[in-house]
Amino acid sequence: MAKSIFQAKVLLAPLSGMSDLPLRTVSREHGCRFAFTEMLAIKPLLTKSPKSLTYVSTNAFDTPLGAQIVGRDPAMMAEGAAILEDMGFFTVIDVNLGCPARKVVSKGEGSALLKDPKRVERLLKKVVKAVKIPVTCKIRSGWSPTTVNACEIARIAEGAGIQAITVHGRTKDQGYSGAVDHSVIKSVKECVSIPVIGNGNIFTREDAANMIATTGCDHVMLARGALGNPWIFDEIEEDRRSYPANDIIVVKETLLRHAQLLCDFYGEKKAILLLRRIGCWYFKWFPKKAHYKLIMSHIKSHNEFLSAVEDYVTSIEQHDIVEG
Ligand SMILES: Cc1cc2nc3c(=O)[nH]c(=O)nc-3n(C[C@H](O)[C@H](O)[C@H](O)COP(=O)(O)O)c2cc1C
Repeated sequence: MAKSIFQAKVLLAPLSGMSDLPLRTVSREHGCRFAFTEMLAIKPLLTKSPKSLTYVSTNAFDTPLGAQIVGRDPAMMAEGAAILEDMGFFTVIDVNLGCPARKVVSKGEGSALLKDPKRVERLLKKVVKAVKIPVTCKIRSGWSPTTVNACEIARIAEGAGIQAITVHGRTKDQGYSGAVDHSVIKSVKECVSIPVIGNGNIFTREDAANMIATTGCDHVMLARGALGNPWIFDEIEEDRRSYPANDIIVVKETLLRHAQLLCDFYGEKKAILLLRRIGCWYFKWFPKKAHYKLIMSHIKSHNEFLSAVEDYVTSIEQHDIVEG
């Protein structure tokens, strides 16, 4: 295998609406050594829409960082990649060939491109030619169970100059549920010599070890497994337990840190809307959450958020004293 462009065992996935600067910061504070932005739709990127500019916001701590683009027109994708390269803070451009969302595939973008290998070849060649930094791509195993073509797409990608490929071992038809097919990821690893990144259903360091053992992949990519569990980066990189299972105060402090980053980045009004969801991620392995989740889904201010968290943590500590 050629030397990998990634110095990390585990990468934070592009996550639409989620892998923003605050999530990337909390992840990096717990051992994440490479992260991607969420996917950037190509047209808004070319017109430098305010939303696109939020998606590419970064800072000196948030590095190394890859930017992901989604679109189907080779010339526009190449232009977008060049704009991102010129910004000067991305070390990789990733091309999205896996998004299953209706609004994306209905335009022939994301995973719809898996049905058009010729276009994939034209598109990837054009993007690779447009920039000096490495280009990678992210695919699914195929469009449907009867059209699994990850190896064909991976060979095309390698021939086009792509420097690493992420394989999410599900078809477009599976969406985000059902089994992840490790055998497809293994077959991609066997048919190309660029680094392969295994993705899908990695929630623990044991899952990561299993993905590497069964597929031979060079790196793993975490998506949902990173939400509310930034410790997982350290666990996988260092192969040690670091999730503070018996220390709810440490979990609370990390959630409060994430909340503060969200408030600083988006302002309180938008941060509160995000915290209704994010506030629940962090306590996923702690008991008695029904009431907390209900309160969290109605919070209207940072102060209401803080009291909901304090009340929940106190209830767990009292529960421990009674139980203990
Ligand atoms: C809410 C959500 C948003 C996502 N956004 C993106 C995206 O912008 N680009 C992308 O390539 N994949 C995206 N994905 C797919 C993930 O990166 C990943 O491939 C998938 O969730 C499987 O990994 P997991 O089982 O570890 O979650 C998204 C997934 C979810 C659940």
